[in-house]
Amino acid sequence: MKNTSLSAVSIAAVFLAWAVAAAPSALAADGYAVQMPLGLQAGALRTPADNPITKDKVELGKLLFFDTRLSKDGTINCATCHAPEFGFAEPRKVSTGIGGAKGGRNAPTVINSGFSFFQFWDGRAPRLEDQAKGPIANPIEMGHTLEGATKAVASVNSYKPYFKAAFGDEAVTMDRIAQAIASFERTVVSGNSAWDRYTAGHDKAALGDAAKRGLGLFEGKAKCSLCHVGFNLSDGIFHNLGVGMGAAEPDLGRFKVTGQEADKGAFKTPTLRDISKTGPYMHDGSQATLEEVVDFYNRGGEPNPTLDLKVVKLGLSTGEKADLVAFLKSLDGDWKFSRPVPLPK
Ligand code: HEC
Ligand code: HEC
Repeated sequence: MKNTSLSAVSIAAVFLAWAVAAAPSALAADGYAVQMPLGLQAGALRTPADNPITKDKVELGKLLFFDTRLSKDGTINCATCHAPEFGFAEPRKVSTGIGGAKGGRNAPTVINSGFSFFQFWDGRAPRLEDQAKGPIANPIEMGHTLEGATKAVASVNSYKPYFKAAFGDEAVTMDRIAQAIASFERTVVSGNSAWDRYTAGHDKAALGDAAKRGLGLFEGKAKCSLCHVGFNLSDGIFHNLGVGMGAAEPDLGRFKVTGQEADKGAFKTPTLRDISKTGPYMHDGSQATLEEVVDFYNRGGEPNPTLDLKVVKLGLSTGEKADLVAFLKSLDGDWKFSRPVPLPK
């Protein structure tokens, strides 16, 4: 087990920190509750005690998520790379930010990110509140400064009543912007998929035969649920599958955060919800289709010195690979989303 990247001690530390900092319930102070579809656990939503979810914060955060004024040249918003139409991810290999600048990683989905212990592929941000400031000030994403973006939002008069409703007064600060965006993100949830209706809803007709066989493989011969486990299909920690490790200068992932040898090339296990919409796949977007992903696992990943011990050759037949893909496609939620109309100045 030594290649599983997070030690028991640090997991305990994380849980302890959250036990102190997190309100366990998705029920907010104002009685507002995130609508949890079938299959999700409301109590697992990670909401810090200093930023309880309220309806007004969610509403403000939704506007900010889609506001290009958070970027330096007014062309990029969060949804440029986390588009609802693509399962809150992007249809490109790696992100393209301000002025066409390319980053090195594929945008993960924002769906169900409120359940994660860590944000980013390498887990460098513990909370959504910390995460939200990252892209704004990233020179190849939104290219702004936190001060500049704060000023840009503060100069929009029509935001004032929204800040007042959400925070008690009209003051615009980056902390408030981040708190509102994080609150909105916690409402971007996906459940009630065919898999949920089959498993949690006991609707035996919800999955077709191929998907049913695929579920059996997912939890058995194909070993997927060793890491993609629980209602959000993620253990929330970091593993090396070898993706990109053949490159001249591979992205070392979690190693950049911990400096621990065993973390070289390890990335966070992503949720598989709405996976049919969020391709291309993996932290570098190197796998175009779910068929390619399944082939990759079937080969036993990409051999390298820190390959996770759970990644082994699977010996799946052509039919079994197709069944697994059918199961992955049963993980689409039934949510609908409409983009807000941007506020006028
Ligand atoms: C130019 C593209 C781009 C823009 C704009 C962008 N993101 Fe991202 N986002 C990414 C990429 C790429 C990652 C993964 C980066 C990494 O892991 O190092 C990411 C990661 C995330 C994550 C972590 C998800 C997870 O499962 O770990 C969240 C949440 C997120 N972004 C929210 C936002 C918000 C909120 C905004 C707007 C303030 C935003 N993003 C703007 C590309 C973008
Ligand atoms: C050892 C833990 C582990 C096992 C076992 C595992 N996965 Fe993964 N999975 C991960 C990690 C970690 C990533 C991200 C890796 C990266 O980008 O470098 C990932 C990524 C994925 C992705 C791409 C997700 C995205 O948003 O880009 C899919 C799809 C996927 N896995 C499906 C499967 C299937 C199907 C199986 C079983 C055949 C499986 N996984 C087995 C840990 C695992």
